[in-house]
Amino acid sequence: MPDMIPDAETYFRGFIPPRDELLIELEQEAQQEHIPIVGPVVGEFLYILAKAMNCKAILELGTATGYSAIYLAGGISNPGGILTTIERDEAMAARARENISRAGFADRVEVRVGEVAEVLEKLEGPYDLIFMDIEKEDYQKTLSGCHSLLRLGGLLVADNVAFLGASEFNQTIFTDNHWRCVHLYSLLPNHSPEKDGLTLAVRIE
Ligand SMILES: C[S@@+](CC[C@H](N)C(=O)[O-])C[C@H]1O[C@@H](n2cnc3c(N)ncnc32)[C@H](O)[C@@H]1O
Repeated sequence: MPDMIPDAETYFRGFIPPRDELLIELEQEAQQEHIPIVGPVVGEFLYILAKAMNCKAILELGTATGYSAIYLAGGISNPGGILTTIERDEAMAARARENISRAGFADRVEVRVGEVAEVLEKLEGPYDLIFMDIEKEDYQKTLSGCHSLLRLGGLLVADNVAFLGASEFNQTIFTDNHWRCVHLYSLLPNHSPEKDGLTLAVRIE
C-alpha cells in the first residue's frame, strides 16, 4: 500500500476554501449565536455542485441566516436560474433576505417562510438540485415531496446524516428504488459537527 499523508486530519484542515468578508461575518455570527451552518467546506461543495450541474432551479430546505443559500446562489450561472429556500422562523428569514441581498443575489433567491412540509405542496418544480438542512427527523417526512419536485437525474444532498434523527431517512433512501445514493461520513473542517455525514442521492425513477 502506498504511503498515506501523515496526520491527515491536520493536513486537510489546511484546505479551508477562501471566502469573502460577508461569509466570514456570517460564520462569526453563527458561532456567537450557536446557529448551525454548513461552514466553508460544505458551502464550497454546494457551490461546486450547483455550478457543475448548470442548475436552473435549486431548492433549499432550511435557510437560517442565508449562509449556504449564498453559496448555492453563487453557483447558479444559468441566466434566469433561481434558488428557492424555505425557513420556518420569520425573523431568521428576514435576516437571510438581508444577507442574500448584501451578497448581490436578491434577484435569484426567494426565501419562503413556513413549515417545509406545507411549502413543498405549493411549489411546482422541477428542481435540478435540492439541499436538505432542516430538523433531521423531518428528512424522512419530506423525502417523497422532494422526490416529486426533483427532476429525473436531479440531485438530493442531505446534511448532518450522522445525526441519530437522520437514521430512518438514511435507511429509507438507501433501499428505495427511486434513488441511487451514497452516505459519506467525512471530516468536514469548520462544519458543525466536524465529523458528520452527507448523503448524495440521484433520482433515477
Ligand atoms: C441547520 S439550520 C440551516 C443552516 C443553513 N442551511 C446554512 O448552512 O446556512 C436549519 C434551519 O432550518 C429551519 N427548520 C428546521 N426544521 C424546519 C422545518 N421543518 N420547516 C422549515 N424550517 C425548518 C430552522 O429554523 C433553522 O433555521
